[in-house]
Amino acid sequence: MIGAQQFRTHTCVGAVAASGGSVRVAGWVHRRRDHGGVVFIDVRDRSGVLQLVIHPDASAALEVAQRLSPEDVISAIGTLVPRAPETVNARIPTGGVELRVSELTVLAEAAPLPFSVEDDHTEAGEELRLTYRYLDLRRTRRLRALELRGRVVRAIRGILESEGFLEVETPMLTRSTPEGARDFLVPSRLQQGAFYALPQSPQLFKQLLMVGGIERYYQVVRCFRDEDLRADRQPEFTQVDIEASFVEPKDIQGLVEAILVAAWEQAGITLAAPFPRMTYAEAMRRFGSDRPDLRFACEIQDWSAPAAASGLGVFGSVVGSGGVVRAIVFPAAGAGLSRKDLDGLVLEAQDLGAKGLVWAVPGPDATLRASVKADFLAELVDDVGATHGDLIALVADRESVAQHVLGSLRTRWAERFGLIPSDVWAPLWVVDFPLVEWNADEHRWDSLHHPFTAPRPEDADRLQSDPGTVLAEAYDVVVNGLELGGGSIRINRTDLQERIFSLIGLDAEQAQERFGFLLRALELGAPPHGGVALGLDRVVMQLAGERSIRDVIAFPKTATGSDPLTGAPAGVDEPQLRELGIRSTVPPFEAHAR
Ligand code: AMO
Repeated sequence: MIGAQQFRTHTCVGAVAASGGSVRVAGWVHRRRDHGGVVFIDVRDRSGVLQLVIHPDASAALEVAQRLSPEDVISAIGTLVPRAPETVNARIPTGGVELRVSELTVLAEAAPLPFSVEDDHTEAGEELRLTYRYLDLRRTRRLRALELRGRVVRAIRGILESEGFLEVETPMLTRSTPEGARDFLVPSRLQQGAFYALPQSPQLFKQLLMVGGIERYYQVVRCFRDEDLRADRQPEFTQVDIEASFVEPKDIQGLVEAILVAAWEQAGITLAAPFPRMTYAEAMRRFGSDRPDLRFACEIQDWSAPAAASGLGVFGSVVGSGGVVRAIVFPAAGAGLSRKDLDGLVLEAQDLGAKGLVWAVPGPDATLRASVKADFLAELVDDVGATHGDLIALVADRESVAQHVLGSLRTRWAERFGLIPSDVWAPLWVVDFPLVEWNADEHRWDSLHHPFTAPRPEDADRLQSDPGTVLAEAYDVVVNGLELGGGSIRINRTDLQERIFSLIGLDAEQAQERFGFLLRALELGAPPHGGVALGLDRVVMQLAGERSIRDVIAFPKTATGSDPLTGAPAGVDEPQLRELGIRSTVPPFEAHAR
């Protein structure tokens, strides 16, 4: 073991295997109990907890033990003895033994703690825990998440290295890469008025590495995106970024499957591969989402034709003007709902953008509770295959609105009504994404992924005439409704890349100004290439069973993008700004004003 014997000869858990003789351990005072002259201390290090027992015959050690506070750092010498049978704790690996201490040293004292780290569940709020993140990290649950993260990264590297991928670092101070978020900017001192952007991803550099003949690249790399934060988003996060030359989508997909199978193995879970494939169109139609959660059914059903014939005016006019009527059945979800609960569901649908929601709950003997009184309801119940106690939700709107609303309600309510089975893993590939989508506000087409994504060769001739129908050679990997990664085959020809830039509203001059280096590289022998990036934080979050990626990042940011530990972001001194040629238009930043 690395480490000076002066502090310890064994870890707490490693001490169990000590074969007689003197044992020395070091760690934090996890718990202390004084039993009338005999003191018990649970000492904790990274490996776990070991019980120390200090008897009155070791009087100097006893004196030290009696003064210890929680989280003092100590070192103890003693002999390992079996515990009395009635005190054996079978739940921990050291539960059959204790260290009978002869010598006890305090290596560092701990002041009174802002919150207890003894229990894995703490009442302390997130702000406080992040302010003292180093204390929070002492809790087993946090430690286990970081250990899992380390193992997952090692396993992923193992696979990539064995497949001949070379880890190459790419710049952090660079130009903007369009991944759909705002850039973090870094002012240049040497060229005042100019800015670097932190990379939203290494997308362009990995493509240039392919032009550079690297053929198989990967990097475990930090990416930066200034976007609204959610449980699965941080302003800086880690990608497992991959690119390869002379590949087809199935090569990259097979590699990602091997990577995820290996990652899941680290948590003792067998993930079945290959993963099923589903087109974007099918995912949207059946699940109202491009990252469908396939752990449960509750599929969206089309009820447009019968609705139009039902005689209900609103249905007729929606369908008549090209809209749709779609329904979801939530099994056994309706029985326990009061009228007030059900009205609340309507408000939820409206918050998501629906004009309204028709609900129906079939009761026993062909009775029915519903938000509207109408004859067609019996037919609806029959058509959608609902039975006693189910909740039927129906939305009539434009197709995109109905899909969005029902897709959101599907996952939200499935969780609320307990319809999602635990311990089920449902990975899939979503493929055949549209290349571009219409941006009605800006009156132009936007890339659905990024503008370096290749269109399917068979669709490329419609780029001018009907861009909305062109599908991309892009693929996303989704597990249990969470997008873990995405990638594509890239454009490797200048003329096609120029056409895409022009389609998304960059004229030739703007394209040259921003991406001239890429266009030039594509002229100088760019091999066919493609790749993918996996969100490492999301992978580990799922494996650790956490609900936020903050829980699997050592030092994460809060929802407002700040770090309560260091106080970042913080104001800077006037001279520092002057050196950068920058003058602030807002009053000096004061941390306490936040
Ligand atoms: P994309 O933008 O889809 O693709 O990102 C890839 C994966 O990174 C993760 N991710 C995030 N994780 C945490 N916080 C964030 N703010 C965040 N943003 C993204 C997701 C996502 O699936 N260059 C392309 C990849 C390629 O084409 O090869 C890219 O970055 O898990």
